[in-house]
Amino acid sequence: MNFWQKIDKPVIGLSPMDGVTDASFRFITARHGGPDVTFTEFVNVETAFFAPHTLIRDLAYSEIERPVVAQIYGHTPELFYQVAHIVCELGFDGLDINMGCPAKKVAAKGSGAALILNPKLARSIIRTAGQGIKHWREGQTLCDLKINPELIETIRISNRLRSGLEIPPRRRLIPVSVKTRLGYDHIVVEEWIQTLLEEKPSVISLHGRTLKQMYKGNADWEAIARAVKMAENSGTLILGNGDLQNMQDVYRRVRETNVDGVLLGRSAQGNPWIFRTKEQVKQALRSKGAVSIPHVSISLEERFRVILEHSNHFEKQRGNPSFVGMRKHLAWYCRNSRGAAELRSQMVRTNNVSEVVERLRNYAASVASKFEPMDPTFHEHEHEPPFDKFMALSKVEGRARLLSL
Ligand SMILES: Cc1cc2nc3c(=O)[nH]c(=O)nc-3n(C[C@H](O)[C@H](O)[C@H](O)COP(=O)(O)O)c2cc1C
Repeated sequence: MNFWQKIDKPVIGLSPMDGVTDASFRFITARHGGPDVTFTEFVNVETAFFAPHTLIRDLAYSEIERPVVAQIYGHTPELFYQVAHIVCELGFDGLDINMGCPAKKVAAKGSGAALILNPKLARSIIRTAGQGIKHWREGQTLCDLKINPELIETIRISNRLRSGLEIPPRRRLIPVSVKTRLGYDHIVVEEWIQTLLEEKPSVISLHGRTLKQMYKGNADWEAIARAVKMAENSGTLILGNGDLQNMQDVYRRVRETNVDGVLLGRSAQGNPWIFRTKEQVKQALRSKGAVSIPHVSISLEERFRVILEHSNHFEKQRGNPSFVGMRKHLAWYCRNSRGAAELRSQMVRTNNVSEVVERLRNYAASVASKFEPMDPTFHEHEHEPPFDKFMALSKVEGRARLLSL
């Protein structure tokens, strides 16, 4: 049984998002939300050979995220074979192949969603990645593949830093999955899913749009439901994806389509808490609606605490010059916060954790006199002076600084 089969259904996971679901965001989401599964941002298989340090940075993860799946993309089967070994050697729980990215720089080269137009190559990639995993399981080493010794040493070190263990990961067969779309310029879900099923991936995650649609229009959940029917009794799970805003949407879509699970992407941006009520969704589905799914209410205090924790983790992992990559997350955390437009505009100009602390402190002090509820969750602590709240936060911040990666 692989980990996908062991997860209580429906699977409710965090969708991969390039530039968003990096190691820090996934760590925070795992701690404060707890999705059933996380995926790395997609990593080009060529990176392993031309920019090995980028590969290691992009495939960094924390133990708390497990099960964690490495997502890779490309168009050269032999490279998938080699990178599958690296993914196994890094101790990932699964390997996912991106066949859904619509970005020009990816699809124009025949990778990502362009593979929908090339079913033969798509099948060959799935098969070769699976063979790579199988041969690694049987004892083939990175040295045997003549992988750069410096990369091999970096993998060993990153395993030790992450797990605290010197021993290499257990040689096991990890499942291969595919994340894709409904078609290239029009919906071909029937033919495409049939093609993929022939390679028996453990999971197909299906975003309910075509490449041409990019992110426009609405995700077509009826087409996803057709894919579910096709995969019945095939041993492959279908995860639906697209436009799920909250757990109520998850409940409705799972009931309507019978998907084995879902992935949530944009609704988790600045909202790692979204997964908190996933168990209630599962209970509600089992009880046919007899269990209600509560609205997740996040106090300002908790929001600030997580902002600091996330910023600390990001700075520790990426270092100061890359802190610009944290700014979008800060803006998302302040989204939907009435009266916080000014805070948001300041947050997107921060360069390090100290500046984040300073902006939050200024904000807390400025609202101390003219305190106004920002959102419904604000009411919870309305009677508390915000500055005291912030002092409590500072203690948390001290603890967050001690958090190691
Ligand atoms: C900024 C951004 C980056 C993305 N990067 C990836 C990626 O690296 N791999 C992937 O399979 N999908 C990627 N996606 C697609 C999402 O995983 C997901 O399929 C899509 O956003 C629809 O789901 P949603 O409506 O829940 O966001 C990305 C989406 C966004 C918005």
